[in-house]
Amino acid sequence: MATGGGVLITGARGQLGRVTVEAARRRGLHVVGLGHAELPVEDAAVVQQAFATIRPALVLHCAAWTDVDGCERDPARATLVNADGTARVADACVRFGARLVYVSTDFVFDGTARAPYRPEDAPNPISHYGASKLAGERHVLGHARADFHVLRVSWVFGPGGRNFPRAILDRARSGQPLQVVEDEVGSPSFTRDLAEAMLDLAAAHAPGGVYHACNEGVISRHRFAEDIVRLAGLRVAVGRMRATELVRPARRPAFSALDCGKLALVRGRTLPNYLDALERYLGEESAGADPR
Ligand SMILES: NC(=O)c1ccc[n+]([C@@H]2O[C@H](COP(=O)([O-])OP(=O)(O)OC[C@H]3O[C@@H](n4cnc5c(N)ncnc54)[C@H](OP(=O)(O)O)[C@@H]3O)[C@@H](O)[C@H]2O)c1
Repeated sequence: MATGGGVLITGARGQLGRVTVEAARRRGLHVVGLGHAELPVEDAAVVQQAFATIRPALVLHCAAWTDVDGCERDPARATLVNADGTARVADACVRFGARLVYVSTDFVFDGTARAPYRPEDAPNPISHYGASKLAGERHVLGHARADFHVLRVSWVFGPGGRNFPRAILDRARSGQPLQVVEDEVGSPSFTRDLAEAMLDLAAAHAPGGVYHACNEGVISRHRFAEDIVRLAGLRVAVGRMRATELVRPARRPAFSALDCGKLALVRGRTLPNYLDALERYLGEESAGADPR
């Protein structure tokens, strides 16, 4: 990849950001990873100063306020971080001539589809989180740049993160009963596979616009939980429940699997199956490589 000034990764202490920093360094790229404290993305002056100092050739924008229920309680903060913060980053990319990959979410969709969502399908978020991420997409795409990409991902899990497999493992090991929703269906995404996909997308100089990335496989949350406990070697029953039985501020799409065919054409391959990804995650976890 011709990086000139190197790669700036925002949200570099988050579960996707930290793994992306590692993956980019493994490719021999010059990487600057900045976390929330160093680069609060909604602060225009700080963003401007960071770009002026680093002069990145490529920005991988992983930072976001990802607390879906928190965003529902505080939509103004969701907008500030996920929409306005993304606008600050995109504007700085234009000003300093950097390419951009903005990581977005399956939660921009309303969940009424019957087949995996394609990048060109109409978004219709049903939560403030989804709406704020979609507003971020519109800021990025509004620049109409051939070197700006939106990469929507779903059900993200990886080392060092607060995520679904982590929560299921903690609960199963504590001996608490497990009840998991069976009417939320989607596709898990392992951060190590997402990081490679993101770097490939940037390196391919693919046409600008929206792409989807997730591991292969469309499953319910309940099925995913069963796979997690089984592959972790735990003998724990996983009960079923309906999403309406959970009292949560934000609604989740009932179906949010992503069609990743457009990205596969660019990369010449799909991401691995989610079971393969889960095995690698659990391998890291049991080797003690999952810091919390
Ligand atoms: N997690 C999922 O299931 C999921 C699903 C679909 C899409 N995504 C998208 O994937 C990307 C990566 O998510 P993730 O799972 O890695 O989430 P994460 O672990 O929560 O990481 C996000 C990082 O962004 C940082 N951040 C929060 N507010 C910020 C701000 N104002 N300025 C700068 N940094 C800020 C957070 O720092 P603090 O924690 O210190 O605030 C955190 O380290 C996000 O764009 C997210 O929307 C995630």
